Amino acid sequence: MTLIAHISDLHICETDFDEDIFIQAVTEINQLQPDMIILTGDITNCGYYVEFQQATRYLEMFEAPLFAVPGNHDARNLGYQTFEEIIGERSWKLTMDGDLTVIGLDSSSPDESRGNIGNPQHMWLEHQLDECAINENFSIVALHHHVIPIPQTGRERNVLSDAGDILKTLTTHEVDLVLSGHKHVPNVWKLNNTIVVNAGSLCSKKLRGKIKNSYMVYNITDDEIEIFLNNIGGEKFLFGKYARNEL
Ligand SMILES: [Fe+2]
Ligand SMILES: [Fe+2]
Repeated sequence: MTLIAHISDLHICETDFDEDIFIQAVTEINQLQPDMIILTGDITNCGYYVEFQQATRYLEMFEAPLFAVPGNHDARNLGYQTFEEIIGERSWKLTMDGDLTVIGLDSSSPDESRGNIGNPQHMWLEHQLDECAINENFSIVALHHHVIPIPQTGRERNVLSDAGDILKTLTTHEVDLVLSGHKHVPNVWKLNNTIVVNAGSLCSKKLRGKIKNSYMVYNITDDEIEIFLNNIGGEKFLFGKYARNEL
């Protein structure tokens, strides 16, 4: 069994970051003892160097290994460089226990809100997914921008600009899970044999309506995948349950 916590959109800054909610989230996630935490971007609000420094102090509070991709807010103000210096690679691949692969993509562009993967990264992704297929690994792709529009988010402005081509690659390779953030609204779509999950914001005050700060939890066994939406403060909802042989 593999347990993964998926957090997103922390927006660490002086104004919109809710420190109390963040500390509570850390306590809850540490109690779950996940095998890893995947962070799908917008760690900082403006990409400022001091925000990244502040972020490392907060992220160190998580006990599980944490892997992050940048969001559009992280790529502002030379943040794409700072991300590499302080957080790590912007695109990466990791394999766990020889049978689960997570691929992180950088969908951000400097000082722009829109998302784009671009040809070089797309070709790299295809190559990595070919390897996953050969090894029959459970595959997860993490990126900040949503690849399918999210309900309750108003007019669609910045779905990934090359979403069609990326979706084609993700679905033809039968990627098991695609994880994103950006819209601060939790959601699950299933497209062919691929589950596409959007996490809400972990601790930003920038929330729509009555949507609460939250994170997703994935319980992956040989037989099934359970997806939970955990609101900070204890509310838990089963968001989806899929038999592995259906995927
Ligand atoms: Fe965000
Ligand atoms: Fe974003």
